[in-house]
Amino acid sequence: MAVERTLSIIKPDATERNITGKVNQRLEDAGLRIVAQKRLKLTEEQAKAFYIVHKDRKFYQDLVNFMTSGPVVVQVLEGDNAIAKNREVMGATNPEEAAPGTIRADFARDIEANSVHGSDSPETAAGEIKFFFSDIEVVG
Ligand code: PPS
Repeated sequence: MAVERTLSIIKPDATERNITGKVNQRLEDAGLRIVAQKRLKLTEEQAKAFYIVHKDRKFYQDLVNFMTSGPVVVQVLEGDNAIAKNREVMGATNPEEAAPGTIRADFARDIEANSVHGSDSPETAAGEIKFFFSDIEVVG
């Protein structure tokens, strides 16, 4: 199994409810190691740039508005198959479709306020990690 790194974001609906520790516990229980972490308030410009891949989708501005509505915690997770493992622990994008016991099934409010983000491929993960962290901030 390959040791990978992935970018995770704990979203404003979760920071608002003060459940970042609960989310982190789920990640660590799944064997993921938090090798970098910081709390930020994204600017409109940063959120638009981070989600640029979705710029033509009808929810783009709603997503940007939500992601700038409060603090987020951005993190780098490391572990065997970290990208797929994190997506498994997160559950489906829409919490109504998320498997029982996943973060989104247990914590997310709806498809917008869905508590967590995780990179979806090795290429995306590399770009998303670089977006938020310099090499010296990631300590495996
Ligand atoms: S995924 O996981 O990329 O396949 O999911 P996708 O459906 O493509 O959604 C991409 C991100 O957009 C968010 N999203 C929404 N935000 C606001 N309103 C609506 N209706 C909506 N639908 C999807 C979704 O939470 C994904 O955010 P991230 O941060 O990438 O998980």
